[in-house]
Amino acid sequence: MNAEARQAIVEQLRQSRKYRHCCGDTLDRIAGWALARHHAPKDALKAAKRKLHQVYGAYFDRFDWKRIEEFLFAIEAGAGVDTLRDVCGEILRSHASTRERLPIMEQAFGTIFECVGRIERVVDLACGLNPFALPWMPLPESCAYEAIDIDERLMAILGTFFERAGRRGTAQCRDMLVSPPDTEADVVLLLKLLPCLEQQEKGAALALLRSLRARYAVVSFPLKSLGGRSKGMAAHYGAFMDDLVEVLDVPAQVYPFENEVFYLLTLW
Ligand SMILES: C[S@@+](CC[C@H](N)C(=O)[O-])C[C@H]1O[C@@H](n2cnc3c(N)ncnc32)[C@H](O)[C@@H]1O
Repeated sequence: MNAEARQAIVEQLRQSRKYRHCCGDTLDRIAGWALARHHAPKDALKAAKRKLHQVYGAYFDRFDWKRIEEFLFAIEAGAGVDTLRDVCGEILRSHASTRERLPIMEQAFGTIFECVGRIERVVDLACGLNPFALPWMPLPESCAYEAIDIDERLMAILGTFFERAGRRGTAQCRDMLVSPPDTEADVVLLLKLLPCLEQQEKGAALALLRSLRARYAVVSFPLKSLGGRSKGMAAHYGAFMDDLVEVLDVPAQVYPFENEVFYLLTLW
């Protein structure tokens, strides 16, 4: 493949407002993917933008960065859990995907984490805004929380959040299809992630689950699209998970809620 053509696509993506904060490895990987399918650079650029919108842009387009930052800077050192819940609740409410999780979050994390027992390290893969749900997670103060996603801006914001909230958290801008997660953890969260991974690489969900060095994986699926339609998603993702669990041959528990279904997989 022509390295110059690939680099030219990466640069054009980097210059666009929409993708300038996206992880460099992701831009490069998607440029390579697009050039493998389209000879003409113009067509490859278009295909790369379409794919990036599908797996990244559609989610981040809906971010109200100003609002998130205003609330973030309202967190003062030593803030108690009630203050943290007020502020983080506002941040989670600012995006449709986490807004719909708000009413069930405490029950979902409570029930699922209770089955896991003592948790010292959580890895939140493709985390989006989910780390702001920390004040609803029954985790010990000493628990390390590792957040990973492909938006540089969000990772900087999360770094500041962990610092202000006084939590042992880190936020890494990292493309997990280029650098798969390698830390050992008690729990890895893969919330609303697997469909997005499959859109980037067929079979990526299974490969990722097989590679995890974690005792438990929590996988979830939306039951409605970002636009609010359900389109048979429960049956579709249910069948997808049944197949995955059969191939992995691991115990799985299902926790269905109105807008999102969670699976707890015991990996070892
Ligand atoms: C639907 S959102 C889910 C966000 C969060 N897990 C939640 O449920 O609230 C999908 C997330 O996957 C991230 N993502 C997509 N491809 C990725 C990749 N290859 N590596 C890391 N993160 C990725 C996107 O940036 C986006 O934040």
